[in-house]
Amino acid sequence: MSSPAAAKHILAISGSLRRQSFNTGLLRAAMELAPPGMTITITNIGGFPLYDDDVRLEGYPPVVQAFRDQITAADGLLMACPEYNYSVSGVLKNAIDWASRPPGNLFNEKPVAIVGAATGLFGSIRGQNHLRAILAGLNCNVLHKPEVMVASAASKFDAEGKLTDETARKLIGELLVKLAAT
Ligand SMILES: Cc1cc2nc3c(=O)[nH]c(=O)nc-3n(C[C@H](O)[C@H](O)[C@H](O)COP(=O)(O)O)c2cc1C
Repeated sequence: MSSPAAAKHILAISGSLRRQSFNTGLLRAAMELAPPGMTITITNIGGFPLYDDDVRLEGYPPVVQAFRDQITAADGLLMACPEYNYSVSGVLKNAIDWASRPPGNLFNEKPVAIVGAATGLFGSIRGQNHLRAILAGLNCNVLHKPEVMVASAASKFDAEGKLTDETARKLIGELLVKLAAT
């Protein structure tokens, strides 16, 4: 019999700053669906300045340094990826850019799971594909399956912003079990 999985702390990052964001809603669902031993903390990347290498060389802004420290401390990352103009949102890319610079590569071999929601029919898959390419460049260990693409997102959440779609909830649960095993 295998031993119980060690406790895992997952840092969750939403690429949408919108109060009623469906993508942030997926992260709240993940908190409900996390397997035993896994804790998920949703961080906020909204207060970051736009990336500027001159600023970095003077020292990371405190909000950015705190985010970098959260990534270092996490056993894995869960990213909720909206699709903006067929790609990732600017806020998510900006946060990744800040976290990607020296010292070290905070993302190196970091396990990452991706979910995404869009109001259109493609469930953010084009944005997620771009995110996978970005994370490959940072040498993250990105889980390939299951893919969690919540299409027509406006019909999949209730008035309180809770994910009601059973297929999506099942897939998120399966994804988190795989993340726990990494
Ligand atoms: C700037 C912008 C670009 C968008 N581009 C796309 C797109 O390319 N494909 C798509 O399916 N939805 C697109 N949408 C619609 C988003 O899927 C929708 O706004 C969704 O609710 C965003 O995620 P959120 O609910 O987490 O904020 C776009 C929305 C914005 C604001």
